[in-house]
Amino acid sequence: MTFLFLVLAIADCLFSQSFAYGVHGSHAHLFSEEVSNISFPKNFMWGYATAAYQLEGAWNEDGKGESVWDYDAHNHPDWWPAGQNLIGDVGVDAYHHTDEDVALLAKQGVNTYRFSIAWPRILPTGHIDNINQKGIDYYKDLIQKLKARNIEPLVTMHHWDNPRAIEDEGGFLNESIIPAFVDYATLLFDNFGDDVKWWVTFNEPKQTCGGGYDVGGISPQNIHRGTGGYICAHNLLRAHAKVYRLYESKYKATQKGRVSMVMDESWSEPASNSSADIEAAERINLMTYGWYAHPIVFGDYPDIMKERVAERSSKQGFSTSRLPAFTDEEKAEIKGTYDFLTINMYSSQLAAAQDEAPYTDISLASDISVTVYQPDDWEKTVTDWFKVVPWGARHLVTWIRDTYGDEKGIIVTENGYHDSGNVFDDLDTRGRYHKLYLSNINDAIYKDGVNVTGYMAWSLWNDIEWYAGIVVNLGHYHVDFDSPNRTRTPKASAAYYQQVVTTGCLVDTCEPSPKDL
Ligand code: BGC
Repeated sequence: MTFLFLVLAIADCLFSQSFAYGVHGSHAHLFSEEVSNISFPKNFMWGYATAAYQLEGAWNEDGKGESVWDYDAHNHPDWWPAGQNLIGDVGVDAYHHTDEDVALLAKQGVNTYRFSIAWPRILPTGHIDNINQKGIDYYKDLIQKLKARNIEPLVTMHHWDNPRAIEDEGGFLNESIIPAFVDYATLLFDNFGDDVKWWVTFNEPKQTCGGGYDVGGISPQNIHRGTGGYICAHNLLRAHAKVYRLYESKYKATQKGRVSMVMDESWSEPASNSSADIEAAERINLMTYGWYAHPIVFGDYPDIMKERVAERSSKQGFSTSRLPAFTDEEKAEIKGTYDFLTINMYSSQLAAAQDEAPYTDISLASDISVTVYQPDDWEKTVTDWFKVVPWGARHLVTWIRDTYGDEKGIIVTENGYHDSGNVFDDLDTRGRYHKLYLSNINDAIYKDGVNVTGYMAWSLWNDIEWYAGIVVNLGHYHVDFDSPNRTRTPKASAAYYQQVVTTGCLVDTCEPSPKDL
């Protein structure tokens, strides 16, 4: 998540994946450093996650079209740390390092690689009448090389980099994006579907829509406070449903893959045991994660969300709710459009009841009207909102299971640790972070019976962190951004994660997984 958006998100107290520790109903003590010694199951999906803009570079090579991120990097240097706006033009130069990077993934021992396809690399104008074969060839080559090393591709169709041309037509605020996205998805299934068995339509729609069209902080920053996020989400969800149904009717029988959407959440823990705080935490979790999960699982937005936005809209003088409504036909189309559940997790926060926000404030945050905060003594990282909260991981996946079921499995599609300035890490920082989060996920699996089926670390490389450039890093490999070759060098966290994914064990020796016996 971007730095700017996070700052705004804190101000809005809402959409960050932010904030941290404690045990249900009691946050008065630090988390335990005790680490599970039970192996993860043998069939667990272990991987790395990344996204095209953050990695590929080659922003205008071989026929690629301009994305909203290219456009904003070139036209709004002030949105980036000084002098870093052009860093994504070359990025980690993954476009020219396929062999080396696939070899690194194989060396790390992962069995899954989550990456995104840049829509404008395949369709430079966003539309199907202008196909860039060189873009298709690039991803075909990457997929073939991954498969040759027994690494399963998990492909994100959209990780925030809308073609600029689609944005000129209104982007997610215009429902014409729906057929354009369906055409793009059709092209992907036709070209890659024989090899790709794991698809996600959108990455973090809450950020795409909240940051892109409402609160700000994500390109294109076409801000319509209190309305843009909902309109974007509505079109995005309808596009997702159509792509899921397309796959189901036309491709699934032969290609035998799975389709879902990647959702993120900053877990909100009740600030106290009071029923008001418990209700407040549930409300925010439902109106953020549930904004997307409810439609794809149950076919509609959560009731609390529909009721609150309708009521506030009415008091604000709107003739209809700012939250659009699905038709019955759309509800039927979207219900059940997921073959696995997902969660991008980073931090957590406490949620407390507050008075209803003034009706003069038309915003996503005031529609929720919950106070969120992180106590000052929670463990910090370089990023304000990002406190280390391993227990939040366990509570979050358990809540997802309790609210949406886990029969189809829950994959942690992102988790990672922020440090600064393209640095090397040590075992006390990023390695420990993954260990403690994974230990809590392991507890969720074995102690709470939650069906978590995979974990993708963000990320193998120090990549481009949106409007934070390379001021914030998450990689297990250092990247020398001053060298033309973008030299990659492993950090301590790379060795630790390699040990975990190859043994399934977080400590030196483990008990076998009861699931394998
Ligand atoms: C995004 C990634 C980003 C990560 C780390 C997530 O919100 O999906 O693109 O790099 O957070 O901040």
